[in-house]
Amino acid sequence: MPARVARFAWRANGCARGIGDDFSLTSAVRPAELAELLSIARGRGAVVELGTGTAWSAIALALDDGARRVISYDSFVRHDRDAYLGLAGGRVRDRIELRNEPDSNGPRAGDPPVELLFIDSSHDCESVLAAFRAWRTALAPGAVVVFHDYDHPGYPGVRDAVVELGLVGRRIGGLFAWRAP
Ligand SMILES: C[S@@+](CC[C@H](N)C(=O)[O-])C[C@H]1O[C@@H](n2cnc3c(N)ncnc32)[C@H](O)[C@@H]1O
Repeated sequence: MPARVARFAWRANGCARGIGDDFSLTSAVRPAELAELLSIARGRGAVVELGTGTAWSAIALALDDGARRVISYDSFVRHDRDAYLGLAGGRVRDRIELRNEPDSNGPRAGDPPVELLFIDSSHDCESVLAAFRAWRTALAPGAVVVFHDYDHPGYPGVRDAVVELGLVGRRIGGLFAWRAP
């Protein structure tokens, strides 16, 4: 993992322990998966994340590439996220747009074509299907869609949705990556 991202993750962990933010400690993307996600994201400047949580993954994606812009959706605002956005610093914060709305709203007029879509919001099959379908037409040619918790025994809906969509892609640890034509 790039040093600046590892440094942020280390500080965010310490902050979460300090303020008793168990949500982040249990729900944010784990370091090994984050490293894979960042590797897939390389060279991709327009990123949309579905499921901000406390913004750890959004911050990591923005920190990893100084030219990248991240739009992240969450229907529920988790106030602890401000503490972590503060750790990221203003220049990084400026490249993260937080939209407090359901992911199924899809893109807004004027949004750039999405080069990487990271799906980490609701994990039941119907919600994953709705999220994918809401964003499918917003994908740039060759875009990659990454589904989190693909192999998680507690979230069989993610795999079910990938199967129902008929996506042929690559499983990387707990991630499933599909490349758009
Ligand atoms: C696992 S957390 C995201 C963690 C974050 N990606 C990270 O690694 O730091 C999932 C988030 O998705 C949000 N969520 C669930 N269903 C959603 C939906 N339909 N639209 C937008 N956000 C949703 C939840 O409120 C929660 O904050």
